[in-house]
Amino acid sequence: MYLQRRNRILRATPAIRSLVAETTLTPSDFIAPLFIDEGVDIKTEIASMPNYYRNSLDITVKEVKEMWSMGIKCVLLFIKCKEELKDNTGKEAWNKNGLMQRSIKAIKDAVPEMVVMTDVALDPYSSFGHDGIVKGTEIVNDETVEALVKMSISHAQAGADFVAPSDMMDGRIGAIRKGLEDEGFTKTGIMAYSAKYASCFYGPFRDALDSAPGFGDKKTYQMNYANRIEAVKEALMDVEEGADIVMVKPGLPYLDIVREVKDAVDVPVSVYNISGEYAMIKAAAKMGWIDEDKAIIETLTSFKRAGADLIATYFARDAVKLIG
Ligand code: PBG
Repeated sequence: MYLQRRNRILRATPAIRSLVAETTLTPSDFIAPLFIDEGVDIKTEIASMPNYYRNSLDITVKEVKEMWSMGIKCVLLFIKCKEELKDNTGKEAWNKNGLMQRSIKAIKDAVPEMVVMTDVALDPYSSFGHDGIVKGTEIVNDETVEALVKMSISHAQAGADFVAPSDMMDGRIGAIRKGLEDEGFTKTGIMAYSAKYASCFYGPFRDALDSAPGFGDKKTYQMNYANRIEAVKEALMDVEEGADIVMVKPGLPYLDIVREVKDAVDVPVSVYNISGEYAMIKAAAKMGWIDEDKAIIETLTSFKRAGADLIATYFARDAVKLIG
């Protein structure tokens, strides 16, 4: 048989395949999310996220040192707020001595070069488990934005490199940028969760932080997963309002959105490989139905191929070991 072109030539050996690979993963692609708890020497496995833990700050600092030595350059902080500190204003979110603010300081003191990003949304602090302030059954926009500005400034004061608003209120990126400028925080970045969908895949995360909404759902602020053009609109508006990085979330069911946003904006795009995606791989691997290591690398590579410059993932450490 005569063939002018034989595509299998480029797939013939591992060496050739690696020479022509279009996408490769490196440790600096990853953002490692960390769940932080009050107390000392506390390490609690999250039931729906096997082998992922909520740690007290002393253990977190050790882990961050270890991650830095492995080549991971960025962490994204989440804290578990004590029940008695939760209310409908979310005011614990901007407490100078709050767990988040203490964590930022401790991590920056221990590993100054580590890029520290912080989640900005009221849900862990809200007695209603919503990302914003509740009035009646409504999650009110403008008052929530004011709270998010205070929260962001307090994170910047504590030393955060980037604030990462994950709340999906309107106008929050512009307001946070202005707040940071007004306070002189001209070096603090904003990674906007621009296209954040109302997803069932956040379940395990809400277990981790005990932050499930007490009533209703998040559909009046997080996006409808039926929509694509709306994601581009959100991302473009966030860039206009001053976002340095835009994010798409969740990851795997939204690879088309990652590509769409990547093609539309002139800033780096990140994707969040969220808790439910982690849980699915862990569960199938536990059943012996898939090879966990291969599933991790294939999944993370798909994000980069789709156009993500950065990947927030609970597999950051596993992935660095696997690609090492
Ligand atoms: C809170 C927040 C959520 C996640 C990140 N920030 C949950 C939510 O919106 O309910 C989800 C992360 C994950 O599932 O891994 N604003």
